[in-house]
Amino acid sequence: MQVWEGDHIMRVFVTGASGFIGAATVDQLLAAGHEVTGLARSDASAAAIAAKGARVLRGDLDDPGSIRAGAEQAEAVIHLANKHDFTNVAISNAAERAAVQTIGDTLAGSGRPFLLAAGVAGLAPGRFGTEADPSPAHGPDSPRGGSENLALEFVERGVHTVSLRFAPTVHGTRDHGFIAALVAIARQKGVAGYPGDGTNRWAAVHRLDAAHLVTLALAKAGAGTRLHAVAEPGVPTREIAQAIGRAFDLPVASIAAQDVQEHFGWIGGFFAMDLAATSTATQELLGWTPTGPTLVEDIAAGAYA
Ligand SMILES: NC(=O)c1ccc[n+]([C@@H]2O[C@H](COP(=O)([O-])OP(=O)(O)OC[C@H]3O[C@@H](n4cnc5c(N)ncnc54)[C@H](OP(=O)(O)O)[C@@H]3O)[C@@H](O)[C@H]2O)c1
Repeated sequence: MQVWEGDHIMRVFVTGASGFIGAATVDQLLAAGHEVTGLARSDASAAAIAAKGARVLRGDLDDPGSIRAGAEQAEAVIHLANKHDFTNVAISNAAERAAVQTIGDTLAGSGRPFLLAAGVAGLAPGRFGTEADPSPAHGPDSPRGGSENLALEFVERGVHTVSLRFAPTVHGTRDHGFIAALVAIARQKGVAGYPGDGTNRWAAVHRLDAAHLVTLALAKAGAGTRLHAVAEPGVPTREIAQAIGRAFDLPVASIAAQDVQEHFGWIGGFFAMDLAATSTATQELLGWTPTGPTLVEDIAAGAYA
């Protein structure tokens, strides 16, 4: 069994290398001296990855052979791809679980690092989730296809699994995720809404801090570690709506619980959740100190203009 020795230059296979977090991660991996191969499913993504100075492996989450080939050739795998079909999450979750199964099976017995994206949803309703809280998502029908727990099960099979639990908003310029969707809805409806009394919270982290965490995790995190890429433990959704209202000169209003789904559509369920989490253990373990702008600062600075 090849033993993982931590802080050295590695050949790293990155899925989602053309994505919001993945592209920033590739930049930082390359800057740290690693050799990176990025999975690309289109000419545009291949060109973007190659332009950074990384190698390209053409493939798709729906093509397990491509995922296997990438993992076989690498000394470490960072899995950040996701279909993000929020109108049919079962499709995204099935692909996510299948990719994790393929990567785990490929790395089994190798001792090689396998870092994968995860989230903080459902860890500890009503309080701040911590790294010590196991994910309640088990099995294919659970959120994200239960991929974190599946990946962590591979530790017993000789895989150096590390879970990267990203805050529900990884924010910054070029974000096309949740905050961008909330901005689009606010502009379309002419009101920056928040669910209920707006006291439910979302953890947040700036994109570059998140990418820095991934790079540190590759070097420093032990097998079975759960990390929290969280800079702000809990921004009330009312403050998020107020920031959007100020930035786009829109009124701010509460959306009653029974109207949340209709007003916000697919993102309503997420925006009404309390997704608060701390990162004390992660910061201590990695020596990671987030330095990027806060979510409200980012919105005010025009990151979503
Ligand atoms: N951003 C956040 O706020 C946040 C919060 C919590 C967790 N996460 C998780 O962190 C990970 C990275 O998120 P992100 O924001 O960087 O996502 P993103 O910007 O949407 O990027 C998704 C990546 O997956 C790739 N991809 C999509 N479908 C694919 C397929 N069928 N085959 C191969 N690749 C495919 C995309 O390729 P193309 O470029 O070719 O489309 C892209 O590189 C995801 O697992 C996400 O769920 C993100």
